Amino acid sequence: MSKHIVPHSYQISKEDRLKANEHNSFLLWFTGLSGSGKSTIANVVEQKLFHQGIKTYTLDGDNIRKGINNDLTFSPEDRTENIRRIAEIANLMVDAGLVVLAAFVSPYKKDRQNIKSIVKDVNFVEIFINTSIEECERRDVKGLYKKARAGEIKNMTGISAPYEAPENPDIEIKTEDESVDEAAQRIVDYITPKLSELQ
Ligand code: ADX
Repeated sequence: MSKHIVPHSYQISKEDRLKANEHNSFLLWFTGLSGSGKSTIANVVEQKLFHQGIKTYTLDGDNIRKGINNDLTFSPEDRTENIRRIAEIANLMVDAGLVVLAAFVSPYKKDRQNIKSIVKDVNFVEIFINTSIEECERRDVKGLYKKARAGEIKNMTGISAPYEAPENPDIEIKTEDESVDEAAQRIVDYITPKLSELQ
C-alpha cells in the first residue's frame, strides 16, 4: 500500500525541534494490570517534568480508547491493533519533540516488542508497574474485577485473559512497597541523563 508514497523532505528537522526545546524526546511506556497504578504514577511523573519546563503529553485509555480507537474491543487482535496505533501516534509525538507518557495494559510481549521497533529502541523506556492481581482486585478502583468475576466482562486481563509480564523492563515499580511519589521520582531520576542527550 505504501509503495507509491515518497517522503517529502521538510526544512525543520527533529534535531531542530529538540534544540529549540533544549531537551531530548522519547516514549515512557507504562505497562501493568488494570488498576495497577499506571496512570496515577504517569500523572505525577508528568507534573514533575512539566515543572522542569519539559514538553510532555500523556496517552491513556481515556483519550485513546474513547477517541481514535473507539472501534476496538479487548480481543487479542484488537489489543494488538490498539497498541500498534498508539505506538504510531507516540512515534509522531516523539518526532515532534515531546516526552510522551503512555499508560496501557499492553499485556502481550510481542506487542510491546513492536512498539520498540516502531519508535526505535533508543526512544523507548519500558516501565513495569508490578502490582499483584490480588492487590488490583482488592483496590478495584473501577469495579471491573467484580464485574469480571460475575461474568459480565469477558477477556479481563489477569482474570480471564493473560498478562505477560516484562522480563527486562528498564524500571520496575512495586506499588505495594513504594509510594506514588517515590516511584515517580525514581522514574524522573532514571530519565534525567536521557533528557540532555541531544542527537
Ligand atoms: S490493552 O490491553 O489494549 O492495552 P488498554 O490499556 O487500552 O488495554 O485498556 C485497559 C482499560 O480498559 C483498563 O484499565 C480498564 O479500565 C478497561 N477495561 C475494560 N475491559 C477490559 C478488559 N476486558 N481487560 C482489561 N481492561 C479492560
